[in-house]
Amino acid sequence: MKTTVRGVRSVEIEMSEPERAAEFYSKVWHLTEVARSNGSYWFRGTGAYHHILAIHPATRGAAIRRLTFAAANKDIVQALHAKVVASGCTTEAPHALATPGGGYGFGFADPEGRNLAVVCGENDHQDDADVKDRPRKIAHVNLNAAQLEKSNNFLADVLGFRKIDHSGPLHFFHCDSTDHSSMVMGAAATPTLNHVSFELPDLDSCMRGGGRMRDAGYPIEWGPGRHGAGNNVFCYFAGPEEFPIEYTAEVMQVDDSYEFHGPEYWKWPPGRLDQWGITPPHTARWKRIQDLVLFTPGQYRL
Ligand SMILES: [Fe+2]
Repeated sequence: MKTTVRGVRSVEIEMSEPERAAEFYSKVWHLTEVARSNGSYWFRGTGAYHHILAIHPATRGAAIRRLTFAAANKDIVQALHAKVVASGCTTEAPHALATPGGGYGFGFADPEGRNLAVVCGENDHQDDADVKDRPRKIAHVNLNAAQLEKSNNFLADVLGFRKIDHSGPLHFFHCDSTDHSSMVMGAAATPTLNHVSFELPDLDSCMRGGGRMRDAGYPIEWGPGRHGAGNNVFCYFAGPEEFPIEYTAEVMQVDDSYEFHGPEYWKWPPGRLDQWGITPPHTARWKRIQDLVLFTPGQYRL
């Protein structure tokens, strides 16, 4: 039994115009609404998770409220809770959840004040087959840390992630999953969200997603291209209220034999930013919005 999580289960965000954002995530981004209550919306992907995105009304503009990690069972939830308590972070006792999807888990504030949660036993879906052009799940979340070493150590020592690659300024973290990475960390002046990545079932779905977004008035801010570490294809966008989102596909599948490589290994030849050598540099807008969205302070309780 690995005392770690199985990846990012869901992301909760806050929007000034939640109704408009909900329409976008349904009609353009291709998630499916599963619950609605008091101005909040919950959406699933094609995978089994009850929901992968929740949108709540914002009080101060676009924000990220919480990341929830999936745990395999209650024993893992309890073991991770004990490690979070021992780390000195603010937390609550694991309990049955009354939110849509239910389950059992706990929330906590990590060393930089981000609201994180670990949950198991949600009321997941039986149908989980891929559907072209529709996201399966959250592939990874990329966070910016003001105290990068401290945040990286927390992921490794408390939540059980393994640092699997280090490319340029980015540190990639692998957990109890076959996905190359589920969390990516970089440095910034304040702890902000870099982006949330949604996994599509194949490369063509990723490319057509780029076209669908362009048609809807959301041009590609970086991509299309294929990353080095993780080997995934990518298109990055500014979603509603300039929330930074990615479509990705073909994420490298790994096992324990995968070998770590550092920045020297992952260096691109001059003028290149991806494996194919086709992506232009990211836009000025992408540079701005990938260090813009803050976590809602103090909302660690589930
Ligand atoms: Fe990404």
